[in-house]
Amino acid sequence: MEKNISFKLKVWRQKSPKAQGQFVTYDVNDIPTDTSFLEMLDIVNEQLIEKGEEPIVFDHDCREGICGMCSLYVNGHPHGPATGATTCQLYMRRFNDGDTITVEPWRSAAFPVIKDLMVNRNAFDQIQQAGGYVSFNTGGAQDANAIPISKVAADEAMDSASCIGCGACVAACKNGSAMLFVSAKVSQFALLPQGRAEAKKRVKAMLSKMDELGFGNCTNTGACAAECPKNIKLSNISRLNREFLGAKCSD
Ligand code: SF4
Ligand code: FES
Repeated sequence: MEKNISFKLKVWRQKSPKAQGQFVTYDVNDIPTDTSFLEMLDIVNEQLIEKGEEPIVFDHDCREGICGMCSLYVNGHPHGPATGATTCQLYMRRFNDGDTITVEPWRSAAFPVIKDLMVNRNAFDQIQQAGGYVSFNTGGAQDANAIPISKVAADEAMDSASCIGCGACVAACKNGSAMLFVSAKVSQFALLPQGRAEAKKRVKAMLSKMDELGFGNCTNTGACAAECPKNIKLSNISRLNREFLGAKCSD
């Protein structure tokens, strides 16, 4: 049932990448519980603008769980307390009247803060550009049965492809590792015949770029998969390791 709640919003404010940031607490009143978390931030920003203060900078685009832009740490969890959902899919009914809600940007050396809650996730783009694609011309659409692919492989490839590149896995990991993201991107091709031709080159190039950009290594804590809004499985990391070992052994 819809009701209104009032709470304290503790937000990380940081003027620029090199500036020292700090938490600022705002009293937020009478927010309907069917408001989304980002809509709540919009309301707070309108009130700040009316008072002549700087609005809170945060990233967003699709607002429907597709683009991966809404990278916020809410109450100690990437994308907040809901499982299998992004921040834009989080609703204020998850919180109680009188709560203190803490909002921070992703904390990772590879994702530097641009301003307030917005971070630079260009490192993920660079990993993708290193090999997360099929570079040959596949021609026109073939008959669906021309290349037999098992249902299991097709389903797993599709599950891996659902990674939206949000970076929650990196933010959740105590090592700042990007292994879940890279493993999803490698797996979506490795599982399909169209991706096999460049599989060895791809896995080596993407992992090498990941290391170069300062992401940490995986120590199998599993925080990444626990916090991933798309439920990307840890078994992708096992596949990534097998793909990499296979590629190195055939060098
Ligand atoms: S693996 Fe999950 S948490 Fe990591 S970038 Fe992809 S969708 Fe986001
Ligand atoms: S704004 Fe696109 S996933 Fe949240």
